This record gives sequence, C-alpha cells and structure tokens, in this order.
Amino acid sequence: MKVVVADDYEDLSRRAAAWLHRTLAGINNPTVVLPTGNTPVGLYRNLAADPNSQFLGNARFIQLDEYQGIPREDSRTLAGWFWRVFLQPLSIRKSALLSFDPSVPDPDGEAERMDAAATQTGIDVCVLGLGQNGHLGFNEPGSDFKSRTRVVDLSEESIKSNAAYWGDKGQVPRRAFTLGLATLASSKHTLLLVSGAHKAGILTATLKAPQSPQVPATCLKSFRDVTVIADRSALPAGD
Ligand code: PGA
Repeated sequence: MKVVVADDYEDLSRRAAAWLHRTLAGINNPTVVLPTGNTPVGLYRNLAADPNSQFLGNARFIQLDEYQGIPREDSRTLAGWFWRVFLQPLSIRKSALLSFDPSVPDPDGEAERMDAAATQTGIDVCVLGLGQNGHLGFNEPGSDFKSRTRVVDLSEESIKSNAAYWGDKGQVPRRAFTLGLATLASSKHTLLLVSGAHKAGILTATLKAPQSPQVPATCLKSFRDVTVIADRSALPAGD
C-alpha cells in the first residue's frame, strides 16, 4: 500500500481529487464506487469546484453501502446523501448511480442483484473511508475477506458513529447493505481516505497489524494498487 501524507483535511481533499482525476484518465466509461460519510465531503467539494470535472461524466457509480429496512424516500438513505453531496453539485444525472433499494421485501435478492452488477462490469476505481472499528463500507469486524455483497447487522460502534449523522442512536437503522470485501477486492484501483486523530489507532492497525477479519481494513493489503491518503493527525505517532 502506498501511503501519502497530507498536511491537513483540505490538503487530503485536494490530493484525493487529483488522485481520482489521474486514475480515471484514460478509462472509458469507468465503474466507480464512492463512499458517503464525513471524510469524502472535501473531495466532493473539490470535484464540484473543478471546471474539468466532466471527466466524471461517463462514469457509472455503484453504491458502496445503504441502510436496510427504511423507505426509499427516507431522508436518511445514503443514496440521498450521495445525491446531495456528489451527484447534484456535479450535475451528474441520478441514473448514473446504481443503488440499493432499502425498502425491498427480499433484501438478500437485492444484495445479489448489486453484487452481480458489480461483478459483471468489474470495479475500476473504489474510494473508501475507514470506520473507527476498521470497517470498510459496512463490512463490520468479523467480516470474511471472501464476503460478497450482503445484508449485515450494524455493530454498536457503527451505530454510535452514525448517530452523529442523524442526531441520535435511535435514528440509526440497525441493518444495512454493503458491497462485500471480496467484491471490493476486485477493484483495479483503491483509495482509502483517513482524517483525524480519532482514526490514528485504527489506521495503525490497518497498516501494521497482521491481516484479520477483526480489522476488516487489513484486507486492503491483498488488493491491487491501493493508495492511502491520511492527514497528519491520523498518522500513527512516530510516522
Ligand atoms: P466518516 O465515516 O467518513 O464519517 O468518518 C467513515 C466510515 O465509517 O466508513
């Protein structure tokens, strides 16, 4: 894994936008997985301000994760979040995003449908945030590295961190869809974004601990072409 050190969050966001631009150059009609969460917001802001962001115009996006068991029009859907922070500011049509339907009566079938779609085209580029518990998407601690797209129960830690998005824990749905770790591993290029001192411990584990499902992000060591952009505050002490 290549580790790039950013001075601060703004620098991380600029570098992430430049990485995406560079990596997508030359790929026709790329399939791209992008995250929601607080970390990528600066990346999306930079892309929206870039007059050359039309390089994203031919991309097809696959949703990384989504809550399960809420209505499609619920204000907490991650597809809605993605629309507000990424698609809409960049004037990208909604249909460019292949999304999970959080309300389907057959969630397992929905997960299979999304996995088949990701497998069919392959993932060219994937950008990920890092959960404080080491999750990627909603692949929570204990997730098999061979896992495919599926429905999961959110860990207590994810419910707690997601409470910050929606006001309190009671607002956080308890189940979610996530692209699986093996599904993500098929990506040709992966970027992990890590910002803030509260992520320093888990970033150390991601970079230095032996691979283990208890820290799902350690699976990145087996992915092709992985770049980590971390700001100084997220870096392990002494690095
Ligand atoms: P954050 O979430 O970007 O809001 O820190 C990351 C994650 O939980 O994957």
